[in-house]
Amino acid sequence: MRADAEWDGAMLRELSPHWAERIIYLEECASTNDEARRLGKEGLRDESLVLTEKQTSGRGRRGQAWTCPPGVSVACSFLVRPSEALALWPRLSLAAGLAVAEGLDAFGVSAEVKWPNDIWVRERKICGILLESDSEFAIIGIGLNVNTLHFPEGLAHPATSLALENEAPMSREEVLISILDRLSVRTRQIGSAFSDLLQVWNTRCVLRGKMVTLQSNGISKSGIMAGVSANGELLLETQTGIERILHADTIRLAGD
Ligand code: BTN
Repeated sequence: MRADAEWDGAMLRELSPHWAERIIYLEECASTNDEARRLGKEGLRDESLVLTEKQTSGRGRRGQAWTCPPGVSVACSFLVRPSEALALWPRLSLAAGLAVAEGLDAFGVSAEVKWPNDIWVRERKICGILLESDSEFAIIGIGLNVNTLHFPEGLAHPATSLALENEAPMSREEVLISILDRLSVRTRQIGSAFSDLLQVWNTRCVLRGKMVTLQSNGISKSGIMAGVSANGELLLETQTGIERILHADTIRLAGD
């Protein structure tokens, strides 16, 4: 594996001819999700990637800001135009999380998924995903800590990076290509192959079988995380039975 080097689109294009026509590199932008949406409206092709070195207004889930330090992290947005019905597109959320976790397999970590689509390593967040859609396309925004060594104080969850886990810097291009390969497989499985995807997702879920506490609109609920339903809902086993949770502001392992 080569060490991380200058990060630009040309290197990625050389690394893989398949991605040569699909990667759009911007030195700086407000948010790759916003750029992907703009380019999507102009006809950007299926399975394209908008990649930047510096995001000035990166967004996370629930309207939070997302910081990706230049030079060490990956900030990108993968645009897809699924042929499946729009109603199935929310499944991309689980597909994307699983693809990133699988893409990290070759880089010395054991990555797990946390509902709906965080990626954790040893109970620390290594990657966040922001799924947004239009009527014509969906955008999977990925913020991944590759060579990040320091994180801002006061983060909602403890964070980690590939470099911290391996005690050595990694090549961002190689990590990205590995993730793209898995994204291109998993995002095509939101139709009839979704039950297979779900089975794998459930085995990778860091919360599965554990006592968790969810917060939503100021209301707190606890129970055992029993898996994810075919619709992507979290199945929470409580004293009164299984509850299907579609949305939560926060989800924590009990005792955290
Ligand atoms: C989260 O809250 O965990 C999701 C974070 C997603 C951040 C990525 S960085 C690339 C893309 N562009 C954005 O503005 N957000 C996503």
